[in-house]
Amino acid sequence: MNFKEKNQDYISLTNKHLNQYFDFKKSDNKKLIEAMKYSLFAGGKRIRPIIVLGTYNVFGTNNEEVLPYACALEMIHTYSLIHDDLPAMDNDDFRRGKPTNHKVYGEGLAVLAGDGLLNYAFEIMLANAINKENSMSHIKAMYEISKAAGINGMIGGQIVDLESENKEINASTLEYIHMNKTAALLTACFKVGAIIGQGTEKDIQNMSLVGKNLGLAFQIKDDILDVVGDTEKLGKKVGSDEEKKKSTYPVMYGLDFSINKVKELTESIHDVLQGYGEKANFLLSLSQYLIDREY
Ligand code: IPE
Ligand code: IPE
Ligand code: MG
Ligand code: MG
Ligand code: MG
Repeated sequence: MNFKEKNQDYISLTNKHLNQYFDFKKSDNKKLIEAMKYSLFAGGKRIRPIIVLGTYNVFGTNNEEVLPYACALEMIHTYSLIHDDLPAMDNDDFRRGKPTNHKVYGEGLAVLAGDGLLNYAFEIMLANAINKENSMSHIKAMYEISKAAGINGMIGGQIVDLESENKEINASTLEYIHMNKTAALLTACFKVGAIIGQGTEKDIQNMSLVGKNLGLAFQIKDDILDVVGDTEKLGKKVGSDEEKKKSTYPVMYGLDFSINKVKELTESIHDVLQGYGEKANFLLSLSQYLIDREY
């Protein structure tokens, strides 16, 4: 399978499993479930599950082992987008090519749909881990995810992002925002792939380094697309950062510098990945695809 086919294969696997988790025979909270599904199945790129599966396959061979994590990470990511779009945060009206969750369901339900996705993600991971013989690697994986999503990760980054609107910040604060609001969860995806694939401590460290650099590059590219991207292709409004006077790479360093930084960060992971030979070819191609992406 070439890169494109493998990528599509991982997306299909993830969607199939996500659908299974949401195949409730009976539900007392139809509206809540509907709101959760609305954003989850609105058609994101599924980068986080793709990274989990791609990294796992450097080490392991049974995708079933890691799919609960791939799905849980996509659910945590989707919750973060629902909350990120709220009027109290970035106040955006479009996401994944559709009106944002609160535009359709109202703010109260959007908050709860986000909470629901976050908590259901942990329920799914724990239900999977509870009867496993090798439970230590599962505990380790869930620990990494909870740290990355929490106050010393994504939430920590989101609060500094909010506090930095309409403000001049220094380089290290901008780096803190990007490393935490975005790179932390992406790094967890790489680490979880290595942990569940039974990689060594060194492997987990290597994948963590790859995740940090690729994660920072991912958010800088997101900032670049907010300036030069196409609303139709992106499925979210271009110019949103400028409107909110967000602190971004293009604002602080200009577009050319930002574009180069994405390239440099991506190249810096090649040496690490090349150490894994052919098994890392998918991740290498993925890093290039992320540089070139238009959405
Ligand atoms: C958007 O993430 C938010 C950031 C962390 C930059 P994605 O670009 O992965 O969004 P989807 O999942 O494809 O919608
Ligand atoms: C969001 O960063 C990162 C999250 C944790 C959701 P942005 O606010 O730049 O993401 P978009 O551009 O709205 O997708
Ligand atoms: Mg934001
Ligand atoms: Mg936003
Ligand atoms: Mg953005």
